[in-house]
Amino acid sequence: MDIQRKEELFEQAKQWILEAGSHIRDHIDAPRSIETKSNPNDLVTEMDQQTEQFFADKIRDNYPDHLLLGEEGFGDSLEDLKGTIWIVDPIDGTMNFVHQKRNFAISIGIYEDGVGEIGLIYNVMEDVLYSVKRGQGVFKNEKQLPELNDSRPLKESILTLNTTWLIPENPHVEHESIQELVKTIRSTRSYGSAALELAFVAEGIVDGYLTMTLMPWDYAAGAIMVQEVGGTVTRADKGELDLLNSTTVLACRSNIYDEIIDDYVQLKTKESDR
Ligand code: IPD
Ligand code: CA
Ligand code: CA
Repeated sequence: MDIQRKEELFEQAKQWILEAGSHIRDHIDAPRSIETKSNPNDLVTEMDQQTEQFFADKIRDNYPDHLLLGEEGFGDSLEDLKGTIWIVDPIDGTMNFVHQKRNFAISIGIYEDGVGEIGLIYNVMEDVLYSVKRGQGVFKNEKQLPELNDSRPLKESILTLNTTWLIPENPHVEHESIQELVKTIRSTRSYGSAALELAFVAEGIVDGYLTMTLMPWDYAAGAIMVQEVGGTVTRADKGELDLLNSTTVLACRSNIYDEIIDDYVQLKTKESDR
């Protein structure tokens, strides 16, 4: 993507994400309509839907040749990654939005022919915007984040991890292998928003994020950020991320990447059989 076009798209996306975030903040105490999707704990509210609709309208009015991949059904169904694709999670961390009224984010990744060019993750209630233009660094509001050149070993690392992967019945990963990982590292954190967890890896305040079931809108922006500061992001079997399907994800400082996967992640199913 040429630099001027990237700049224009970035400024537009930034204006819209701040506008959408401000609307959510202004209505944070309004009565909520809460429904469930794939299971009783998979929540969606009218605000998730309205926010995705807001982006869908803006993108279609202003960039009719662009495509939208979104969580709540207002986007396009994609067969491939050709063209300019906005990958939007209108509220990442809906459970936090409903229960805590904080710790959630809007996430936008803009990809061209499968290459991540722009990423924005807006922590709405804290008014903190993480942003990246590929090749031009990652920013937390106006401040550029440094490269992840820390060489601290795994045993002194903090990983963000969902406790689901420690339960024997989970269908994706051998729980004993994850227990060993938890025993080895310094500590774990669970924030409940994949987008924020990836932004925290890029910021260097956690050393890695490992999960077994993400959709493209959860990580589209964050993956660009982690790579931009020198981190590594792949599936948990070291394969390349596939933006058209559900996937495992490991994002971390590059010096602990091989050790985590080789020594501690035993997947129960092949990625291709998920
Ligand atoms: C969820 C959050 C959560 C992650 C789930 C996602 P949502 O997104 O990112 O942290 O563990 O896999 O589905 O539903 O709140 O947009
Ligand atoms: Ca999400
Ligand atoms: Ca969501």
